[in-house]
Amino acid sequence: MDQKQRVAEAIAKALPDMSIEDILNKIERPKDTKNGDYAFPTFFLAKTLHKAPQMIATELVEKIDQAGFEKVVVAGPYINFYQDKAQVGADIIKAILTDPEGYGKRDLGKGSNVTIDYSSPNIAKPMGMGHLRSTMIGEAVARILEKENYNLIRIDYLGDWGTQFGKLMAAYQMWGSEEEVKKDPIETLLKYYVRINNEADEHPEYTDLGREWFAKLEHGDKEAWRLWHWFREISIERFQKVYDMLDVHFDSFNGEAFSAQKMDDPIDLLKDKGLLKLSRGAQIVDLDAYNLTPPLIIKSNGTTTYITRDLATALYRKRMFGHSKSLYVVGAEQENYYKQLKAVLKEMGFTWWDQLEHISFGLMNLNGKKMSTRKGNVVNLEDVLNDSISLARKQIAEKNPDLKNADEVAKQVGVGAVIFHDLKNDRRNAVNFKLEDVVKFEGETGPYVQYARARAESILRKGGIRDFSDVDLTVLGDDAWELLRFLSQYADTVERAAVNYDPSVIAKYALELSKKFNQYYAHTRILEENAEQLARLALVQAVSHILKDALAMLDIKAPDEM
Ligand code: ARG
Repeated sequence: MDQKQRVAEAIAKALPDMSIEDILNKIERPKDTKNGDYAFPTFFLAKTLHKAPQMIATELVEKIDQAGFEKVVVAGPYINFYQDKAQVGADIIKAILTDPEGYGKRDLGKGSNVTIDYSSPNIAKPMGMGHLRSTMIGEAVARILEKENYNLIRIDYLGDWGTQFGKLMAAYQMWGSEEEVKKDPIETLLKYYVRINNEADEHPEYTDLGREWFAKLEHGDKEAWRLWHWFREISIERFQKVYDMLDVHFDSFNGEAFSAQKMDDPIDLLKDKGLLKLSRGAQIVDLDAYNLTPPLIIKSNGTTTYITRDLATALYRKRMFGHSKSLYVVGAEQENYYKQLKAVLKEMGFTWWDQLEHISFGLMNLNGKKMSTRKGNVVNLEDVLNDSISLARKQIAEKNPDLKNADEVAKQVGVGAVIFHDLKNDRRNAVNFKLEDVVKFEGETGPYVQYARARAESILRKGGIRDFSDVDLTVLGDDAWELLRFLSQYADTVERAAVNYDPSVIAKYALELSKKFNQYYAHTRILEENAEQLARLALVQAVSHILKDALAMLDIKAPDEM
């Protein structure tokens, strides 16, 4: 049983007027284990009981059933609970070994559907490091929610519509060659796009041409659609290479173009509800009441906008998936936009408007400098991953020259390092990316965690035992307690990460568990043959399971050897 629950139940017997839930909410975990493993403060009872907290604590402790605890004592206004370490420790290891993947689950989701919109790059452009953040945060959040039994629908909402495609087509008509595009699809298309934008000042007719081509697309012109399909296909093919490297797999690539075909729904509804207001020839929704600027729904030339497509998308997703949450993993610069989107849905009368959540994140800087697509300061994500893999390969060659599947491990370490670096800090903070800091076996890095787990596996190989079902686990010495206590916090940690959509909670836990394990390893002769040996190995196995599980939630592989 959950230890905190055990404490709550012991208190409940002495405080029959309070619900278990309320008691659970009051229970604290003392920072210093000298003050026990759990503490129950009594200040809040002073008012109702008209007594000093200290006195309440003294009286209460008499009524508490102390069975199953090492001791329960009064410390000022607190009642401190000391667990029976041997028994609790044994229970924790047993729980992990019996069901490694189930350990830490709390079933918050109860199987309900959650859509998650992430990565969502714009086609005909290379996927830059900026999209790495959305991809990795999104994938990790999806995995964390899956652990809590939500059913995830992963959507790559491609930016595959809009006037810029008209421009691209116009440019292709003027300067494009099929062979050139086939050779190097994305870079070539980007080149055409940049050229038409650069020359548009001198040639205003290019802008009109772009508009014409987009109109052709909207009206179903055959050639326009052929080009659109082709550009989209070759873009997805390229993105897929990166997704494969990252082990990210989408259920849907329905992007803006898909939603562009469904815009009658939101527009009709907005009209019916009288929400569209004319403003300088355009149609807007007034969001004064929300202190938000009014979003443009239909432009003065009759074309629709990005938010109109997103409204159609939101209606479609709700109808299709009946989600309990609909998540959008997009940079912080779009905070205002998502407020507008939610406010419009609320105005339209949808009670589920607040199921939409913007999972915001900070910028990624490269060696201290801001990255931007428009200025050409783009870094190709694929190149970064490949550089990271090479660096990992080099370090493995130095550390472990005999490693058999070194190339495969280098991939897991190199890619894992980039992902871990992205996820280890609160997602709202900006991240600075410097390859040398990312692929290090020491410090707060992915390889450090992977290495700690590989060390655990190496000990287990030497120990030669994997089935611990008959081992007496209560014999572990006090030196194991720090580690065990930390393992017992896993479910709380997963829950916190899920509720806040915050992978850094898991990353920090994995770092701390690695650190604690390395300390244990440094101070305890794990393989020494005595009465404790098998129980110690069982603990190592439990640590290895949880490190692997935590890494998996971050979409990072755990090599057995490195
Ligand atoms: N394509 C957009 C970008 O690259 C992100 C799309 C986010 N999703 C959405 N439903 N609007 O910034």
